[in-house]
Amino acid sequence: MARGRFIALEGGEGCGKSTQARLLVDALRHRGIAVELTREPGGTPGAEAIRRLLLDPPGEGWGPQAEALLFAAARADHVARLIRPAIEEGRWVVSDRFVDSSRAYQGGAGGIGDEVVQALHAIGSDGLRPDLTIILTVDAETALERTRLRDGDVGDAIGNRDAPYHRAVSDTFARLAGESPSDFAIIPGGEAPETVHQAIMRAIAPFIAEAA
Ligand code: TYD
Repeated sequence: MARGRFIALEGGEGCGKSTQARLLVDALRHRGIAVELTREPGGTPGAEAIRRLLLDPPGEGWGPQAEALLFAAARADHVARLIRPAIEEGRWVVSDRFVDSSRAYQGGAGGIGDEVVQALHAIGSDGLRPDLTIILTVDAETALERTRLRDGDVGDAIGNRDAPYHRAVSDTFARLAGESPSDFAIIPGGEAPETVHQAIMRAIAPFIAEAA
């Protein structure tokens, strides 16, 4: 049986990933493709428990190293228990965030560095890469408006970080895509959801054609 495809959606806060992940999964199912919708941090019971520790940390919060290790630990469980078995059984996986979030948030904005994040990923998850990583971009104002509408005044420990942190996240995503363009599709996320969805469908069309 052919291996399933693994697609990750990435971007900063309020870029519309979660909406687009749902639209993508619906479209794939409509074409008869078996697909799992999942997210990071999370996706398995263990990783969802770590998610709660990361987004609502006890005490004074995690230092940069502990935070990077917790994301890597959550991802190790997610890859071993959900992503790898699914793709090996021929199902597709669409993940709302994956390792490039750690590269952009912890590695770039958090200052841990890309090599450390990649080393943790090699240890934890065998360095598994998506077949394609879709980065949704939005301008800072749209992002702020969308997250305010969604979260009100109660964001999480990472979403609430300051504007320079979030600018560094976006800059790092752009740099990663620039360094290995064939791994990424950069899609403007500020348009109407259906327009963005059509752009995503064009980006993954080669994989759909192979699955047919
Ligand atoms: P979530 O509520 O899922 O935010 P969003 O809707 O923006 O995806 O919370 C996930 C938060 O965790 C988000 O601020 C990004 C952050 N994050 C990292 O810092 N590193 C990572 O490796 C991952 C997967 C997420």
